[in-house]
Amino acid sequence: MDTVSDNPLRRFTSFWLGLSIFFAFAILCVLLVPFLKGKKSDSADGAAAAKRVEIRKAMEEAQASALKGSPETVFGQVGNDLLTGRPEAVRDNAQVVPGSPTAVALQSAPDEVVTIAKVDPEAPIDPAVFEAGKAQYILCQACHGVTGDGVPGLAPPLANSNWVGGPVENLIRIQLRGLTGPLTVSGTKYELPVPMVAQAFQTDEQIASVLTYVRNSFGNKASAVTPEQVKAFRGEVGKPALTEKDLIPTGDTAEVTPNDQ
Ligand code: HEC
Repeated sequence: MDTVSDNPLRRFTSFWLGLSIFFAFAILCVLLVPFLKGKKSDSADGAAAAKRVEIRKAMEEAQASALKGSPETVFGQVGNDLLTGRPEAVRDNAQVVPGSPTAVALQSAPDEVVTIAKVDPEAPIDPAVFEAGKAQYILCQACHGVTGDGVPGLAPPLANSNWVGGPVENLIRIQLRGLTGPLTVSGTKYELPVPMVAQAFQTDEQIASVLTYVRNSFGNKASAVTPEQVKAFRGEVGKPALTEKDLIPTGDTAEVTPNDQ
């Protein structure tokens, strides 16, 4: 027999010591439980998880309502979007690869007849548009001169030009397609070595403002040009440069002896 367990005093002390440790541990647990519980319920992790569930639910609901039907209709919708939503650059012919079948088809296609809303020539010019056009004229001034008088051997004048004061259709199309000579401007025939290249990279607003500016500067006085008028001719971008016979006659193209080249 073990002598320790036979000792009554030892057994008594061990019993009470064990019991005390047990109770101390129990009390500790009782004290800790609410603390751990509370800590868990409002911890940052718990809140984040709850938020994720909430967001996901909202997303699923939004997706379900956007699809308006069974999952199969998704394919139909995506297909329709792809067919109808051609990128703007392709739609406007701004990105046609030279020599490609599209480019060839465009070159030989007859010009569409475009009709545009006229602007009242008496209507005041918007100063903001005029200023924007003046800034945009930086593009033109190397060839047509700061004062619009043209540069001999490079470009004809815009000052008092029958074309600048004439139909806006001509001016818009010159911007979008370029212009190749010979060309008679206010009675003087110009045969310049380099044609005017298209400036179609400009936005509708930029073309409208620069044309409004030249039509009301350098002694010219004519109606403003609107972005809507420019937009109507965007389909011509990519076509070959215009020649004088493509332009609407202005009634002021009679040729006289060249004196300004
Ligand atoms: C690289 C030189 C060059 C630039 C830049 C240029 N043009 Fe021209 N432009 C010409 C030439 C050259 C002609 C005549 C075409 C020909 O005879 O081949 C012309 C013709 C014109 C005409 C018709 C003729 C006339 O004198 O009235 C207008 C209008 C015109 N340009 C406006 C503009 C405007 C507006 C800009 C700026 C957005 C511009 N051009 C930029 C070279 C240029």
